[in-house]
Amino acid sequence: MPSNAVIGLQWGDEGKGKVIDTLAHEAHVVARYAGGNNAGHTVIVGDEKYVLHLIPGGILHEGICNLIGRGLVVDLGALIEEMDGLIARGVPVEERLRLDGRAHVIFPYHRHVDGLVEKWRGEGRIGTTGRGIGPAYADKVARTGIRVADILQPKIFQTRLKAAMAEKAALIEKVYGEEPQNWSTLYEESVQMAERLRPLIVDGGAMLREAYAKGEYVLFEGAQGALLDLDGGTYPYVTSSWTGVAGIAGGTGFPPNHLDRAMGVTKAYTTRVGEGPFPSELFEEVGERLRKAGNEYGATTGRPRRCGWFDGVVARYACQTNGIDGVFLTNLDVLSGFGNLQVVTAYREKEEVFRDYPSQVGLGKDLEMETTELPGWTEDITAVRNFSDLPKACQDYVRFLEKEMGARIERISVGPGRDQIFMGESGQEDLWQR
Ligand code: GDP
Ligand code: IMO
Ligand code: MG
Repeated sequence: MPSNAVIGLQWGDEGKGKVIDTLAHEAHVVARYAGGNNAGHTVIVGDEKYVLHLIPGGILHEGICNLIGRGLVVDLGALIEEMDGLIARGVPVEERLRLDGRAHVIFPYHRHVDGLVEKWRGEGRIGTTGRGIGPAYADKVARTGIRVADILQPKIFQTRLKAAMAEKAALIEKVYGEEPQNWSTLYEESVQMAERLRPLIVDGGAMLREAYAKGEYVLFEGAQGALLDLDGGTYPYVTSSWTGVAGIAGGTGFPPNHLDRAMGVTKAYTTRVGEGPFPSELFEEVGERLRKAGNEYGATTGRPRRCGWFDGVVARYACQTNGIDGVFLTNLDVLSGFGNLQVVTAYREKEEVFRDYPSQVGLGKDLEMETTELPGWTEDITAVRNFSDLPKACQDYVRFLEKEMGARIERISVGPGRDQIFMGESGQEDLWQR
């Protein structure tokens, strides 16, 4: 049985939550491998809306094991709150959820430092989610981080936490000139939370390798998107983890050569939350129309998302650098009634033309877009369930995106609901199933 990955091809919020939910009923294990509660993955089931931050998107399905992999940074309080929220809605979370003991922990001092660093950056701020993600990953790399399993060893935890708190207090006071928060109860609170989570703690890599060896279907759920990847993204306006396919092995302990296929998710246009380059961004009236039509507000922070035309350079780069085998196109319905549509096909800076996303994009003022204009359509397509029933202009638009990305569009989504989905013209029926 296959092991498939689902990753975002843009700057996050491509609809990964919906895609994972629609594929999950086939899976035995759904595993997150990167990020933390900076993610917000929306799943709509009938009239019910779920926004998942740390818990993988297979949680609403019976009989599926959902793993928070070792590559995540986990805010224990946020995790417990999310678990309790689902439990209150009747989801048997404890049966279905596992947490890798190697995952690093986000402590309140990480969140505090996240806010202070952003303030310090001033105009150069990243626009982080404020969840402490960057500082927690920085500690991990600096080898001053604390892992979930460490909390369960009182002596080790006490020593490391003491050292970490002393270092963070000095940083906050001496560099940022602020008062550190009161962390006097942090040790006890953390132990209490870790004890609650103890029955869920596993060696995630061993669990995944065993599942795969037994012939079970393993599905990896990406968070954020290819252009937010620490190395591949629009640095420094990125998150602090490896969001693409390359992050899976490191972030779970699943061997890279066991991954069978990678599916990329992209919206039929582009959005971004936070600061940083966004070459196809639309401003004023058109941008606002797109934001309204797509209800483009962050699922985690509620911030309005910046909106723009589909950027072929971005999507092509994301497909190529991640070895994407098929694309899941979402939010096509949002473009109904927009009039003519633009698709960015290349960037130009003075005489130089970029068809691949260059490292310096967005920083030069002379950057120009090469675009192709395509006719729009006016029909409401939210009830369409066959490619051939899409308006002709809409079909042509999809074909154009496919050509630009150099990847097959396997599935098309025309609304947030579970059933608002159908095969792309060149989609393959069985490829994304068991
Ligand atoms: P994720 O972070 O990639 O999981 O995406 P988010 O949940 O942050 O944002 C995607 C938003 O688009 C959510 O509000 C979804 O309910 C919504 N959505 C997903 N697919 C579609 C679609 O095909 N059409 C429309 N109109 N909305 C969609
Ligand atoms: P999902 O999984 C969209 C963005 C933030 C900010 C940058 C760094 O829902 O697609 P961080 O808090 O990670 O240090 O912020 O990354 N960002 C996201 N944008 N979707 C996400 O997740 C994001 N996770 C982080 O807005 O620009
Ligand atoms: Mg999101």
